[in-house]
Amino acid sequence: MSLVDNTSLKLPKENPEAQDFLPLLGTDHVELYVGNAKQAAHYYMSAWGFQPLAYAGLETGMKDRVSYVLEQDKIRLVLTSPLKPGGDINRHIDQHGDGVKAIALWVDDATGSYEETVKRGAESYFEPKTMKDEFGEVVLSGIHTYGETVHVFVERSNYKGPFLPGYRAWNPYYKPESTGLKFIDHMVGNVGWNEMNKWVAFYAEVMGFAQLISFDDKDISTDYTALMSKVMSNGNGRIKFPINEPAEGRKKSQIEEYIEFYNGAGVQHMAMATDNIIETVSALKNRGVEFLTVPATYYEDVLDRVGEIDEKLEPLRDLGILIDRDDEGYLLQIFTKPILDRPTLFIEIIQRKGAKSFGKGNFKALFEAIEREQESRGTL
Ligand code: FE2
Repeated sequence: MSLVDNTSLKLPKENPEAQDFLPLLGTDHVELYVGNAKQAAHYYMSAWGFQPLAYAGLETGMKDRVSYVLEQDKIRLVLTSPLKPGGDINRHIDQHGDGVKAIALWVDDATGSYEETVKRGAESYFEPKTMKDEFGEVVLSGIHTYGETVHVFVERSNYKGPFLPGYRAWNPYYKPESTGLKFIDHMVGNVGWNEMNKWVAFYAEVMGFAQLISFDDKDISTDYTALMSKVMSNGNGRIKFPINEPAEGRKKSQIEEYIEFYNGAGVQHMAMATDNIIETVSALKNRGVEFLTVPATYYEDVLDRVGEIDEKLEPLRDLGILIDRDDEGYLLQIFTKPILDRPTLFIEIIQRKGAKSFGKGNFKALFEAIEREQESRGTL
């Protein structure tokens, strides 16, 4: 089953400055290293509406780890926990808590993607390898990006199995209803002081991406928090990676708080797209997902700022959904509180109605909400 249909290849280039030498067809999956994959899988199913897809562990010949694969429309999450002490996964969890290890990218040629990116300066994570089972074969390769995060290139055109060789279909009795999440819209990295431009250059030079938008601390600063952000995108626009770095503020920036608790650079949030944000967020709230809220005053003048929208304002206000507009349309978005004990990873729900930007007009209201949370944690 393919994640994104191949018609993507015929779409006009969304970001004409990017050179699509890989090219990337979409996000294949996101792998998180977690302390308890079985329970994390239940959380993503019961709270988020992901469906069980595949499993690897002792029963499938995997000796040192277990992985549960979940899917919702085109989004696939892999939750991996170690089965023994020591080793890279335990060390990763010790350093970072639960977090995103791999942003896996779907390609036609994992060997060529590896060779091209390593030639351009990427650090190898693992060399191309072919994995086979009765469903066919997959070629995987990997390179490092910011912090301990990696990109895995996945070539799966000759594979018909549920996920990857080594995994078997996972078909438990419990299959919750979807919450309407469709695909990964963007994945945001937080990097350290003065490191944003280094990673912007990495995505430009090594991956052939181009910059879509930039913000600086004049755009994104409240009384306390400041950050700088640049958005890198591949040529077909399917892969968008905003990169944030902290900026000087009066008190500790949310990016610094992240870096402190994650112990370095890493994925700050995954943005998942829906085509009905009111239904999706209602379902998520009913299942226990907690979102950041903005003051009621946000809604008093929001329509003066963004103009007319298709939705009624009332349900958006009741759910705390934010609205922003750019030259091409508008977008609706909302952010969860951190989904882990450490104040690190969170999830954004986004519905785009033409807008291709990231909600700059909401940053101030949003960051004030984050600061209220930081204040309650004593980390401001
Ligand atoms: Fe975002």
